[in-house]
This record gives sequence, C-alpha cells and structure tokens, in this order.
Amino acid sequence: MAAAGSAIGLGNLWKFPYMAGTNGGALFLIFYIIFLLLLGIPILLSEMAVGRFAGLNAADSCSKIKKGWGFVGGLGIFSAFTVLAAYSVVGGWVMKYILCSINGEGLDADFFAGYTSDSKEQLLWTAAFIFISAFIVTQGVSKGIEKVSSVLLPVLFVFLVGIMIYSLTLPGAKEGVRYFIVPGRESLSLSEISSIAVNAMGQVFFSLSLGMGTLITYGSYLPKSAKLTSSTFTIVGLDTLIAVISGFTIIPAVFSLGLEVTGGPGLIFQTLPAVFAEIPAGRLVAALFFTLVLFAAITSSISLMEVIVSWLTAKTAISRYAASVITAAAVFIPGFIAVFSFGAPSEFSLFGMNFFDFLNFFADKVIMPIGGFFICILVGYIWGIKPASTEISNEGQLKFSFRKIYTASIKYISPVLIVMIFISSFL
Ligand code: PHE
Repeated sequence: MAAAGSAIGLGNLWKFPYMAGTNGGALFLIFYIIFLLLLGIPILLSEMAVGRFAGLNAADSCSKIKKGWGFVGGLGIFSAFTVLAAYSVVGGWVMKYILCSINGEGLDADFFAGYTSDSKEQLLWTAAFIFISAFIVTQGVSKGIEKVSSVLLPVLFVFLVGIMIYSLTLPGAKEGVRYFIVPGRESLSLSEISSIAVNAMGQVFFSLSLGMGTLITYGSYLPKSAKLTSSTFTIVGLDTLIAVISGFTIIPAVFSLGLEVTGGPGLIFQTLPAVFAEIPAGRLVAALFFTLVLFAAITSSISLMEVIVSWLTAKTAISRYAASVITAAAVFIPGFIAVFSFGAPSEFSLFGMNFFDFLNFFADKVIMPIGGFFICILVGYIWGIKPASTEISNEGQLKFSFRKIYTASIKYISPVLIVMIFISSFL
C-alpha cells in the first residue's frame, strides 16, 4: 500500500489529464497503455526485486548486485531530488486551493495564472509542503504510511468516481469522452506522433515512480515472504485506474466548460473549481477533494524524500531526523527557483522552458528513462534473469508465469524502446 501510495499522486490526478489533453487524447492513452505493459510492469518488478534482494538503500542495493553499479541508484537519488522540488511547488498549489475553497474565494480560470505568476505566497506553500513531507519521513516509512494509505486511497477512489459520474453527465461532456478514447480524429505528422510517444513513456515512468530508486528503497523494506508479482499488479492496476478515472473526470468537464484541453499544468486547477461551483455544498466538496489530492501527493513526496534520506543515513553518521531536515532545506532551493521562474522574464529560461518546466522535463523525459534503462541492463545482463527470477518467485515457491515475457522485456524490448524514444525525442 505504501508503494501504491508512492505511485498514486499528482502524476495521476494533476499530470495525466493535462498530458493527455495536450498530447492528442486517445493516442496518448493508447501509447500509455502499451508502454505500461511493455516497460512499466517489468521495470517495476525488477526494481522491487533488486531492493528486496539487497535490502539496502537504492545506491547500495545496486552495488550489492554488482560492484561499480551503485551509480544506477545514485542517479535515482539525484533525480528524486529534482522531482521533489517541482512536486513541492504543485503540492503547494493544492494546499492553496484547499484554503481558498474553504474561504469561498472565487477560483475561476484566471485565478490560477494570476496566482502562479505572483510568486511570494507560493513560496510559503511550497515550504509548507516540503515541511510536512519531511516531518512524516522523520517518523519512518513503515509505521504510519501504510495504514494511512490503506484507508485514504479507497476514500479518494470513491470520491473521484462520484465526481467522474457527475462530470460525465454535464452538457457537452461527450465530446471530451470522444477526445479521450477515440483516436484518429486528425492526421498527425510523424514528429507529432513521436512526441506523443515520448510524453506517454515519460508519464509511465513518472506515474509508476520508476527509474529513480523509489521502488528499490521500498522493496528493501519488504519481507522475504511478500509476493512481488501480485504486488506489482496491484500497484500498476490501482495507479492506472486512478489516472484513467482522473482523465474521464477532467477532460469531459473541460469540453463542457468550453476551456482549452491543451491548457497544460493549470488544467485541473482551472476546471475542477468551476465544476464544484455548480454542485450543492460545492465549497465543502472542493475542500475535501483537494485535501484528498494533497494526501495522495504527500504519500508520493515522502517516497521521494525517503530515497534521499535512506541513502544519507546509510552513508553518514547523521540521524534520520537530521537527514530529513537537510534534505528538506536542500530541496527548497530548486523549489524556490522554480516558483520564481513563473514570473521571471523569458531571458531566464533554460532550453526555452522556465525552470519549473525544465525540472519536469528533465525528470521524466531524461533522467527517469535513463535510470530505467540501466535497471534493465543491471537486471537483464549483470545480475541475470535467473537470480532475478529466484528472487521474484520467492526461491521457486511462487509461480512466475510470465517469466518469458518478462525476460524479453527486460533484456530487449525495454532497453531498445527507451533508446529509440530517447533518440527520437532529440531528433
Ligand atoms: N508517481 C508519483 C505520482 O504519480 C510521483 C513520483 C515519481 C513519486 C517518482 C516517486 C518517484 O505522483
């Protein structure tokens, strides 16, 4: 449940709908599902197997498998840091929206643009989000998180389904459903299709928390009796379900309200308040909903922080408490720059992006796929499929029925696809 909590977060509720919106809707969904099956499931399973086998932090787990390969986990620790910075900015937006919903402030579509370009208050919320995450991490992962996840995830699910049903009944919602599930409405060039594929692959990595040591770290806390394959299917299944429901909630509402489906990162913040404004006790519903989103975001941000903290405590003599404080303070620096980048003049952009967009781009289109690639090489060729399968099947006690497909994916399909997509994104 803690790993599902890590996977389910802003990636599903905030990012998935807007990525689907800007990437052609149905085609994005199709690519997403293909990559989920071809890369997502095998890499997730591999990471957990590495972690449980070694029982150490991400970097040391990889070097326990083969000396000199600790850099794979090390890369993950670095990317956890960058993802966490951007994540905390969005977590801060969610906190602001909870407060505004309670106060009954008019959260119309323009509010979001105004709020994000006026940075000062955002800093406070970003800091608050980092602080809450750090506080929970000081308490350790296994104690509270698992329990809280198993209660609040079902509540989030029920709530989301309710809002989805409402959203689907809005006038004009059908157009949105069509956009999300029926491909081929427009002819796309090869470069457009390849860019959709790149984005879908990045989203699979981001949403499943892959390629950055999170699942190695959580895997290291699992007992030898845990069933890795069924855990993998549970995590992937729940994560996908929430993402797709979120798509069916937001996209039809966007069409019904006459907003731009290609609106980008502000999409849920512009759409949902308008939906809530129409329903009875809308303020309360909005506050509750954003609180659940915040909860989902925190179970993810603590998993990011845990990757860094577990490594710091293993490598140095500092306590978990001190490691959490240091990590929080360090993450605040890129978070701070990201907040200011919204209002900054365009000369301050990196590769044509503001710093926030750059962090997002760098995380899920560069560093997470690189991490995933090396996990495939490490498990497929260095450690070997045989020892990996022994770990996955609990020393042969459990059936590992899809071993052949798994082998093909880890050794050939995933690394080749990652390289292909990587190259095409540069072309
Ligand atoms: N998977 C999380 C989400 O969907 C984000 C995340 C990425 C968490 C990488 C941990 C590691 O929101």
